[in-house]
Amino acid sequence: MKISVIGTGYVGLVTGACLAEIGHEVVCTDNDAEKIRILESGGIPIYEPGLEKVIPKARKEGRLSFRAKPADSVGAGDAIFICVGTPPLPDGGADLSAIDHVARMIATEAKSPKLVVEKSTVPARTGEELKRALTVYGRNSQVKFRVASNPEFLREGTAVGDFLHPDRIVVGVEDEIAERQMEEIYRPVIEKKFDCPVHDSKCPNGPSPTWLVTTINSAELIKHASNSFLALKISYANMVADLAEKLGADIGEVVRAMGLDPRIGSSFLSAGLGFGGFCLPKDLQAFVHLAERSGVDFSMLKEAEKINKKRIDHFVEKLKSMIWVVRGKRLGVLGLAFKPNTDDIRFAPAIDLVHRLISEGASIRAFDPEAMEKTKTILPQVEFAKNAYETAKDAEALLIATEWPEFRKLDWEKIRDSMARPLIIDGRNLLSPAEMKNLGFEYRSFGRPD
Ligand code: UDX
Repeated sequence: MKISVIGTGYVGLVTGACLAEIGHEVVCTDNDAEKIRILESGGIPIYEPGLEKVIPKARKEGRLSFRAKPADSVGAGDAIFICVGTPPLPDGGADLSAIDHVARMIATEAKSPKLVVEKSTVPARTGEELKRALTVYGRNSQVKFRVASNPEFLREGTAVGDFLHPDRIVVGVEDEIAERQMEEIYRPVIEKKFDCPVHDSKCPNGPSPTWLVTTINSAELIKHASNSFLALKISYANMVADLAEKLGADIGEVVRAMGLDPRIGSSFLSAGLGFGGFCLPKDLQAFVHLAERSGVDFSMLKEAEKINKKRIDHFVEKLKSMIWVVRGKRLGVLGLAFKPNTDDIRFAPAIDLVHRLISEGASIRAFDPEAMEKTKTILPQVEFAKNAYETAKDAEALLIATEWPEFRKLDWEKIRDSMARPLIIDGRNLLSPAEMKNLGFEYRSFGRPD
């Protein structure tokens, strides 16, 4: 099919590239001309493993192109995927102005029937508003619009694999025609008929995805309910970790045993600095806001949010219990991205931690394999190191804020001998307390005996 993708951020670029990869003819556009310029010149404005293969290949085969003027892309596709940002408003609700703007553009530019697909994460009942907006804005044309919801379950760092080998594909539609169109779009993924550009555990003989068709409202609710449950699991693990610390228990052992129960599952129970990123925090807020607006008590999720917000305080208390005074101290920070294998620092706990330490008078030297460029633009006071070793040199404590796998394999003797004080505060329980103690470090982490 001919498909347009509006918005080339973490979701839009992966969606456009993968739709081209599975055989569709895709035109991507964005109102940020710089992003399109980079893409047209063969660059990729974000770090997302696998895109460096998928995008050039699809472009060479003439199935993927980029347009600077979003209006141009409306005519290109029979289906239009809306992948614009829905950031949080001050009151916690989702800012849907970008969606409204795109709806107006589609309605005024479309000359033929369009299937308009909500890929961006939106509160339930947005589809109804979108349909109304298309009808009102397009009242002077006879063009027929259908709306569908197709929530994304992409995790940054594994998004290409998550798109091509999803556990489930959820579509919310208003009629059979839209259902058939969505089925045609995803058929290669459902039937696993494409040569896979990324090799992950599900490729090539993983299970086929579940194809789940429902109403638009249910599809929108599935997304918020899923992400908020993941956030709830993380906050639950952090709450139990704080108790484990008081009792001399080990949260790692506790969640490992819990996870052996398939009803619980072991993922998203890692204690530490908590969840960040452009999805979990804002989806949780938007879900609570939607519930409160609908008159339903969501205090359980408000507690999850409160627990998550306190993780930085707990980390700084741990640091102060070891160094007493923060002001004037030279501290090394390993990791700035909101999680490993991404350069994304939006709502990153590591960034909040650095802001907090700078406000308390520390001088920070930081390293992150991918996220330093983006961090430079918002934290000019931070000194950036070439590697972990330079970060640790002469530092009075080394703080682990993102669990990049390469931080597990460092030469810790070399680090110990270069530090002003061999002290590590591990915000992601990346290292082993016993090993670090044997190496002569003072070591603190979350929910584990010191
Ligand atoms: C999330 C959802 O996982 C994905 O399904 C949805 O489509 C988009 O939002 P993402 O935000 O990319 O994906 O990252 P994710 O892997 O979920 O991690 C989110 C945050 O939770 C990160 O800051 C991570 O460090 C933190 N986290 C994750 C924990 O603190 N503990 C855990 O056990 C897991």
